[in-house]
Amino acid sequence: SDYALDGFPDYMRKEIAEQPEAVRRALLGRLDERFSTARLDGLRMDPHELRSVQRVKFLGCGSAFYAGQIGADLVEQLARIPADAESASEFRYRNPVVDGDTLYVAVSQSGETADTLAAVQELRRKGGRVIGVVNAVGSAIARECGSGVFLHAGPEVSVASTKAVTNMSTCFALLALLLGRVRDLSVADGRRIVAGLDALPDRIEEAIEAEDHIAEIARRFAGARSMFFVGRVRGWPVAREGAQKLKEISYVHAEAYQAGELKHGPIALIDAQMPSVVIVPDDELLAKNIGTIEQIKARGGPVIAVTNAMLPSGLADAEIRVPHVTEELDPILFGIPLQLLAYHLAVALGRDIDKPRNLAKSVTVE
Ligand code: G6P
Repeated sequence: SDYALDGFPDYMRKEIAEQPEAVRRALLGRLDERFSTARLDGLRMDPHELRSVQRVKFLGCGSAFYAGQIGADLVEQLARIPADAESASEFRYRNPVVDGDTLYVAVSQSGETADTLAAVQELRRKGGRVIGVVNAVGSAIARECGSGVFLHAGPEVSVASTKAVTNMSTCFALLALLLGRVRDLSVADGRRIVAGLDALPDRIEEAIEAEDHIAEIARRFAGARSMFFVGRVRGWPVAREGAQKLKEISYVHAEAYQAGELKHGPIALIDAQMPSVVIVPDDELLAKNIGTIEQIKARGGPVIAVTNAMLPSGLADAEIRVPHVTEELDPILFGIPLQLLAYHLAVALGRDIDKPRNLAKSVTVE
């Protein structure tokens, strides 16, 4: 095929490397520097219609669902519109209330996932407003939605999604920026987000440069039978996607927890054999997240901190550094080292990276 490995050991590693370019393509022509907003013509929504949106709900499966959660956080923060994400597989079966003031966003790399397509059909049957955020042009979900945002990630072969997921959250940041700028997001804040998005491809490139260090950490922890991924607020969907990646390609059991929920149950499992990957952005919750690391350490649990903050030295057993970017965009950037961690752990265990057992790239049947 014309999408060759080009010297990479597998497609997942190649697709991780392609992310700076993929994000550049997702942003191409979509940043409006003059009005500090985003241009998303594929939405076919004028400012009046954009303003009429009272709620946003993201629907997708697997990694697309977790990316949707990042999208919901971005919409709430930047546009102050209530937003959430739900797995399309649940939505389609629970006779959902469909409300005309809600903007539904169907998220899918392939555009062919049966559960997501069924959710879109259910929405359309009930007269809901639904747009697609899809990679594959001409796919069933893109056609059924009729309007939306294409990811422009290029072909993705590896079952474990990397560049498509990164482009999903990038496109959600654009959507959140647009929804924010027809409401109360100031020009100054809009400018900050535009600048952050503009810098994102370079920051991703820098994040990937930590690969050798991440691979070393992955080898150190490759004997673990199970791992926790811990994050709060912005870091929570990042933790969920990180755990998902590890499970998918390494077959090591992983579970994501909200940092504040640890003490309500899962902390019982912490011991020297249970490493925790803790997401620590340099934001207003830094002290809380340091407290979480201390709680885990006090129970003898090894901690891998993924951070762009200056942590007290010796706090974590291993530290993965993430570059700085506009704070709201941290969840996009923090996903990159977690891809590399899962990848190198799976390599250390000799797994078939591109074709993990029991999984399909897109699940078109129930
Ligand atoms: C499958 C894949 C997942 C993917 C999900 C949604 O289950 O194994 O990696 O996230 O489908 O795929 P989509 O094409 O709809 O994004």
